[in-house]
Amino acid sequence: MTGELELLRDQAEAELGKAGSEEEIQAIRTRYLGRKGLLTGLLRNIAHVAPEDRPGFGKECNELKEAISSKVDQVLDRLVSSQREQAILREQIDVTLPGRAVRQGRLHPVTQIRDEICRIFAGLGFSVVEGPEIELDYYNFEALNIPKDHPARDMQDTFYVEDNIVLRTHTSPVQVRIMEKTRPPVRILSPGRVYRRDSDVSHTPMFHQIEGLLVDRGVSFGDLKGVLTVFLRQMFGDDTALRFRPSFFPFTEPSAEVDIRCVMCSGRGCRVCGQSGWLEILGSGMVDPEVFKNVGYDPEEFTGFAFGLGLERIAMLKFGISDIRLFFENDLRFLEQF
Ligand code: DAH
Repeated sequence: MTGELELLRDQAEAELGKAGSEEEIQAIRTRYLGRKGLLTGLLRNIAHVAPEDRPGFGKECNELKEAISSKVDQVLDRLVSSQREQAILREQIDVTLPGRAVRQGRLHPVTQIRDEICRIFAGLGFSVVEGPEIELDYYNFEALNIPKDHPARDMQDTFYVEDNIVLRTHTSPVQVRIMEKTRPPVRILSPGRVYRRDSDVSHTPMFHQIEGLLVDRGVSFGDLKGVLTVFLRQMFGDDTALRFRPSFFPFTEPSAEVDIRCVMCSGRGCRVCGQSGWLEILGSGMVDPEVFKNVGYDPEEFTGFAFGLGLERIAMLKFGISDIRLFFENDLRFLEQF
């Protein structure tokens, strides 16, 4: 190889050895091998080479071109792979770190109680229906035999949307809506939200009730007692003592409130049961003939019973919760306990 070519080769190798970036390496390639590059320039000088030396000179030039070109490729390859290695090191993931647990949601305690009650009554042949929360005065009061001067109709107790439209104060209007469009036998359960102007440790302006209704030929107060006894024993335990106490509701006659033996003190008397040993759990009664007339049922042909209960109250007793407002604050520290 001629001295000039050797010089060029050494120079290219030295520059490649120092090149630290892809741009620098590409610039070297252009400087030596490009159309106006140093090696191309040398080849152009072939005219000044003695004719007999020209083939040798040309060959050496080509070999040098190959050599520089493959050296450039090699240096470039090394650079790219070392950059990749560094990137991998930088982005290293520690696969042994434990993952972040996905927070698991759970059913609200009121939903749990609702589902449990619906399941028990489904086993007794009841089906679940729903009614509107914004209700006509007619369904909420009138058709249920609640007279115009009844205290429940007072603005103090009921949220009025318009003169004859209210936020339903109980789930009982669903009884009327269902009976209006079905012939007996009727066996329904209706859970949902109800609204009253009330707020303290045991009252919230919105709470949940479940309504039950069974109508057929020959239904007696004995059926009411039997069904509610089965329900309350499944809900609170087989040996729960029950008490059916005479009461009054405008839409049932006779009416009864049902108490269970206090789940907190087992009847000895405590703060929760007001020292009485009993807890009022639900209202019930035989459907009043006036209600049957309002829906076009013949009270001589059909009889039935109805009942209604508050879900928050049951949840408070089952879970030992003392303030009803906790259900609606959505504090996870509370909700996660159920
Ligand atoms: N609607 C009543 C209330 O909100 C509860 C009730 C009592 C429902 C007796 C009934 C019933 O169906 O027969 O207090």
